[in-house]
Amino acid sequence: MTKINPELGYQHCLERVLISEQELQTRIAEIAAQVSQDYAGKNLILICILRGGVVFLSDLMRHITIPHQIDFMSVSSYGVGARSSSGSPRIVLDLNTDIRDRHVLLVEDIVDSGITLDYVLRILYTREPASLNVCVLLDKEERRRVAIYPRYVGFKIPNEYVFGYGLDLDEVFRNLPFVGVLKAEYR
Ligand code: PRP
Repeated sequence: MTKINPELGYQHCLERVLISEQELQTRIAEIAAQVSQDYAGKNLILICILRGGVVFLSDLMRHITIPHQIDFMSVSSYGVGARSSSGSPRIVLDLNTDIRDRHVLLVEDIVDSGITLDYVLRILYTREPASLNVCVLLDKEERRRVAIYPRYVGFKIPNEYVFGYGLDLDEVFRNLPFVGVLKAEYR
């Protein structure tokens, strides 16, 4: 496997753009309109799972037209630099907010095996929210090991290594405005 050199820029490891900036922004605006309609009059809180979800949250919340709060959790399930799940998530940063009787929408960049979301959902259910749903930008359905039923899905994607728009390659390139596929020699 060839090592990624961030100094060379993302272009050297990009096979192709999978979802363009325009496609992302159009779909995110649609999801936000649906969320605004579904949660009107409810006490909505968006919970972003760091770090990958932060770019999606940032764009999504700016399109949501109803009042809402945000909070963050960080769950570790992949070693830094690793490209496969260890399958044992743990909370490394918990919420600052009491979600009891709140309408909670979890915001994630990608659901792959489903292990991370399953773990977070189980924990949050014990805190007795009024409702608990998932909004995920990318759904790599083929890789699922645990059933997850997101209320909102941005895009169903094939089983390819993707990066950009919150998703990292060895912790860099999260800032790219599109979702790209990694070249085969870097996988
Ligand atoms: C990624 C992603 C999800 C999780 C999905 O996080 O952001 O949280 O993996 O995989 P799963 O469905 O197989 O559990 P990662 O651990 O890479 O951390 P990051 O968000 O900080 O990049």
